[in-house]
Amino acid sequence: MAARSTKSPRHTTPALPKAAWRAAFRRRLLAWYRRAARPLPWRRGKNVYHTWVSEIMLQQTQVATVEPYFERFTAAFPTVADLAAADEQDVLRLWEGLGYYRRARQMHAAAQQIVAEHGGEFPRTAAEVNRLPGIGRYTAGAILSIAFDAREPILEANTRRLLARLLPLREDPHRTAGERTLWQLAEALLPKRDVGHFNQALMELGSLVCTPKHPRCGQCPVESLCGAAAAGLQQEIPPPKTPPRWQQVREAAVVVGRRGRVLLRQCQADERWSGLWDFPRFPLQAKRADRLRQELVAKVAKLTGVAIEPGEQLATLRHGVTRFRITLECYEAHCEAVGTARTHRGASLRWLRLGELEDYPLSTTGRRLARLLEARDAKPRRAK
Ligand code: ADE
Repeated sequence: MAARSTKSPRHTTPALPKAAWRAAFRRRLLAWYRRAARPLPWRRGKNVYHTWVSEIMLQQTQVATVEPYFERFTAAFPTVADLAAADEQDVLRLWEGLGYYRRARQMHAAAQQIVAEHGGEFPRTAAEVNRLPGIGRYTAGAILSIAFDAREPILEANTRRLLARLLPLREDPHRTAGERTLWQLAEALLPKRDVGHFNQALMELGSLVCTPKHPRCGQCPVESLCGAAAAGLQQEIPPPKTPPRWQQVREAAVVVGRRGRVLLRQCQADERWSGLWDFPRFPLQAKRADRLRQELVAKVAKLTGVAIEPGEQLATLRHGVTRFRITLECYEAHCEAVGTARTHRGASLRWLRLGELEDYPLSTTGRRLARLLEARDAKPRRAK
């Protein structure tokens, strides 16, 4: 392919492929997709609501993880109107474990916007779809092309890698210039019809064949069209991302007991698990036992207004969220001064029986701790 100059001192941006190349690419890709497409639950029939739910869930999350969540979510909320009318707590409960909870809150808000502004019908234009919370250029393109065959390009993790190799693009495809080139290519490649299948075929090829490490070029329907394969650059393109610098964090979670119930607190908008519930939880500094007790007492009082008498350490849980590696020390405590307030410093509080925790969306470690407590409670009964 002819090269044209760019501002980059190190690489030149390849020209976009010619019409004959594009036609051959589309033909081979679509023929491969007809054979190889996985029967994913959101591919059963055309339903824009299902496409939307799946695309939001698939952001930063693997297909295999999403499948059961998608089935449960769409069974509980079968339409946009059902989602709009749902309690946010129920939406978060069904999202629990999928992570990036902002996606769920924004989708709930978007459903309410669709009911208020579009009579419950998912909008059909890119301008309208882009105005919905949680929807950017990629997601709008994916929804409109898959559900309505709109001629909209897509660029996400799998297609970014696939298109970068096809060109081949030597620049970093995550930086502005490289990304711009790939969006142009994604647009230039679009067929006139069957755009939804074409875009899904791109993602499928990226995910099943043009994998990040050791791509299966021998099984690729477009190997002979691929610039990286011709130059033997599959391992170099795209260049590896700089791995995140892990930050070690030490925290405490305190199980405050009172008359057969435990104290739960709802995380606030500026906290990691915003909207979800958790045992009172905070960063921990003290190492020595006496200091540790003081710190637990002071921080639980500050977070919840409840005075506690700390007890034993129950467990240490390790957990990774984004760039944080969290070591969570879990302590038992008794409520000393009766805490009955339903809120403290703007955060909702509840005294709940362990069984009731099933109805509440909990943080990942909150759920693990709840399961430990349930297992501990169940043991003596079984022994009797
Ligand atoms: N990743 C993002 N969207 C996808 C889709 N519709 N099918 C498969 N993988 C995807």
